[in-house]
Amino acid sequence: AHAFETLLLERHDAVALVRLNRPKALNALSLELTTELSQALDALERHPDIAVVVLTGSEKAFAAGADIKSIKDCGFMDVYDSDLISSTWERLTTCRKPSIAAVAGYALGGGCEIAMMCDFILAADTARFGQPEITIGTLPGAGGTQRLTRYVGKSKAMEMVLTGRMIDAVEAERIGLVSRVIPAAELEAEALATAKKIASFSRPIVMMAKEAVHRAYETTLAEGVRFERRLFHASFATQDQKEGMAAFAEKRPPQFKNR
Ligand code: CAA
Repeated sequence: AHAFETLLLERHDAVALVRLNRPKALNALSLELTTELSQALDALERHPDIAVVVLTGSEKAFAAGADIKSIKDCGFMDVYDSDLISSTWERLTTCRKPSIAAVAGYALGGGCEIAMMCDFILAADTARFGQPEITIGTLPGAGGTQRLTRYVGKSKAMEMVLTGRMIDAVEAERIGLVSRVIPAAELEAEALATAKKIASFSRPIVMMAKEAVHRAYETTLAEGVRFERRLFHASFATQDQKEGMAAFAEKRPPQFKNR
């Protein structure tokens, strides 16, 4: 296993728990942290026994955003040349294995954006989401104006981006930013249980299902439905579809082989 400075990795059977770990800076997303996150995802993606990734932070903060202190003196060429967001942060968006963000405390700016790059967000009742960039003289730079708008619609996204107002977990669930709110003390166990549930299914089929849902954001309805139909047909070429449906007919649990 790899040793990271800003992440803690735990393995729970087929689930990898990746914990952002810069407690003194509320997990602000330094270059080191986002680089390590993308390296960790490379390794987890390759790892044959890992099926699902859970990304979490601390009780106080999932992540309080980009590391303001390390970028405050950057010029245009510094940020343009390095293009850090596409080269490191966005590794989450190319991960074929499912990813779940388990958010407690602050998920602000880049923290909210990283959570939105995961496949879905489970929130502790202590979670706070916001895009406060406007309050420090900039705007979201890792998808906050785009992904948030798709999650919650124009009115909410516009208000959050233009005012920097933070929303709590209840509002986040009501507007569809998070899939569920969980008591803080149970967040990690519930996220792991959810991940293990997904990991119990056929991995290639899970990847197809994830790919199909993502396609909804990239194409027209007609094209998306056609894409889905092709994958649905393709699932009938897998052993796991045979096993899953045979098990149903025989009233027994399926034994998926990831084939
Ligand atoms: N970058 C760097 N350091 C940060 C940080 C950040 N985003 N957020 C918090 N910290 C540091 C604080 O500076 C502080 O360090 P010191 O103890 O050395 O002073 C430490 O973490 C604890 O923070 P606070 O004392 O501020 O804790 P608090 O409980 O009083 O407040 C908070 C918590 C409301 C989250 C507050 O820290 C805050 O507003 N943070 C900044 C949030 C923000 O503006 N994020 C957007 C960043 S820009 C961005 O993300 C761009 C993008 O889209 C790519």
